[in-house]
Amino acid sequence: MKNKTLRRVLSPLPKISVSILNSDLTNLKEVVKKLEQTGITILHLDIMDGNFVPNLTFGPPVIKLLRNYTKCFFDVHLMVKNPDTTYLWYINAGADLVVFHYEAVNKKNIVGLIKDIKKHGVFCGISIKPKTKVEEILPYLELLDLVLVMTVEPGFGGQKILSECLYKIQELSKIRQQKNLDFIISCDGGVNENNIVEIINLGCELPVVGNAIFANKNFVEKAKMFYLLTKRLRFSKYKNNYG
Ligand code: DX5
Ligand code: ZN
Repeated sequence: MKNKTLRRVLSPLPKISVSILNSDLTNLKEVVKKLEQTGITILHLDIMDGNFVPNLTFGPPVIKLLRNYTKCFFDVHLMVKNPDTTYLWYINAGADLVVFHYEAVNKKNIVGLIKDIKKHGVFCGISIKPKTKVEEILPYLELLDLVLVMTVEPGFGGQKILSECLYKIQELSKIRQQKNLDFIISCDGGVNENNIVEIINLGCELPVVGNAIFANKNFVEKAKMFYLLTKRLRFSKYKNNYG
């Protein structure tokens, strides 16, 4: 994926990035196969360390195994402390995009971490928690492929969206235009079929959807619905292997 921008790789946008956190993790291989059949091409993999957030999920071995079963793009969301010491685990396991938390890294190491991740031919994003302001990440925007706006406190799927965070999507969109930058705007937490169109209209190009898909018996039908809904809203000129 070297020399390609993330926007080019994922276009046309918007698309959803499917968080498998609340799926049947004992049957992940089947879950992913079924998602792929609906047209989904991006998986959001939530890594929690029981330290940065009060929950634990899975780690590099699961990503590595999954890599054997799918060609989906792996959007790896690191909710871990000091990702600058462990980011390579996820790259080696098959991540396509590594998103770390601004709050989890010593400020003086952020630029180095972004550069290190990108040096390995992997895309890099920064995520901000609900209380973190956009102005704090201004110095990094031109180095980033993506900004992930958290619309819940990270740690658990199935929470209600904190709508007071949505203004950050508009703010980022404005800054990107003013500075002529290219990062993708994503958001994570509480996205559902009632709010996704509004979120996309505010400028979010890659909403993460988890519980709104997997809280249903027929998650395949729901995934297909989100796939078709975002497909109707696409506007980008690029088209490629992530469909
Ligand atoms: C929360 C995670 C999310 C979550 C998605 O800490 O980062 O990715 O699974 O949120 P829901 O389930 O609300 O769509
Ligand atoms: Zn996430």
